Amino acid sequence: MTDFAALETELLARVETSDQPRSVLRAPELKQLYAQIRDADDKAAFGASVNQLKQSLESAITVREDMLAQLDRAPIDVTAPMDVNAPLPQLAPAARGSIHPISREIAYIVDIFQRMGYVAESSREIDDQYHVFESLNFPKGHPARDDYDTFMTVEQDADGEPLIAPAHTSTMQNRVMKKYRDSLDHGEAIAAIVPDRVFRNEDLDARHEHTFYQVEGIYVARGVHAGMLIATLQTFLEEYYGQKLDVRVNPFYFPFTEPSFEFALSCPFCAGENDSCKVCSGEGWVELLGCGMIHPNVLRAADIDPTEYTGFAFGCGIDRLIMMKHQIEDVRHFESAKLDFLRQF
Ligand code: PHE
Repeated sequence: MTDFAALETELLARVETSDQPRSVLRAPELKQLYAQIRDADDKAAFGASVNQLKQSLESAITVREDMLAQLDRAPIDVTAPMDVNAPLPQLAPAARGSIHPISREIAYIVDIFQRMGYVAESSREIDDQYHVFESLNFPKGHPARDDYDTFMTVEQDADGEPLIAPAHTSTMQNRVMKKYRDSLDHGEAIAAIVPDRVFRNEDLDARHEHTFYQVEGIYVARGVHAGMLIATLQTFLEEYYGQKLDVRVNPFYFPFTEPSFEFALSCPFCAGENDSCKVCSGEGWVELLGCGMIHPNVLRAADIDPTEYTGFAFGCGIDRLIMMKHQIEDVRHFESAKLDFLRQF
């Protein structure tokens, strides 16, 4: 029996120390293996193992060659004047990494909203109870607080309450509205999105992860109404999926919006025509996000007069958007650091 694992370790070690790593492909051990394929009991399995070994060597060789090529370059003098015509120094071999699908899709989402006139802001990974609850019209003891069960720290905020990991991006509504409040006085709308990481105390399964991503949308001006909210979301989603979609809203409840809606779109994959569709389970509709008209108390908490201005907000799960786009069946893949998964993007 050939011990492929031991042979692979041995040959990889040679690649890593060799100045001519490609020569390892001509190692006598490999030649012997090729000769043995003919006489192997199970030729297919044996051949496949030989191939796998060869592929593993090839990728190690590419990495090693990149590294050697860098050693050949003249050292970088960081104090030298910049020569704009010189090629940029290559600092890490690109073969070692790729952009994470979530980062890539967030950049695309931001791009779409920027073209619609929105600015992008980031959230935070620890926040105080004022921004997580009070400013969003959840008074102390409000039962809806339980829907946003998340992680707490032992550190406390100014009121002696534990600091928490935000369970949604709505916790940024108050800060964003205060930051851009002046635009309203100049006759301009507040138009911002917040794509960022959020946390929940969840039982983990293929659809639930303790760490995931949302994009919050906030739009405030004079005369904003729910039709504008629906049109904005439909425009965004049609651009994101590159196709016409039907949308549907159902009444829902959030303390920070009134009225509140649950927003669904027609299944981008089967449009309701496949009973066993994995994305919509044959329903033809996918519940995607929560949204509504910003509650007067939430506007007031940001020093905005609700008799003068109205606004809408929405919060959309980014992981779900991407899973639907690429037909990814398990949300846990995103944070798993599985290279086989990540390298497909
Ligand atoms: N933050 C809500 C959630 O995560 C969604 C939402 C955002 C609803 C903005 C209304 C307005 O459940």
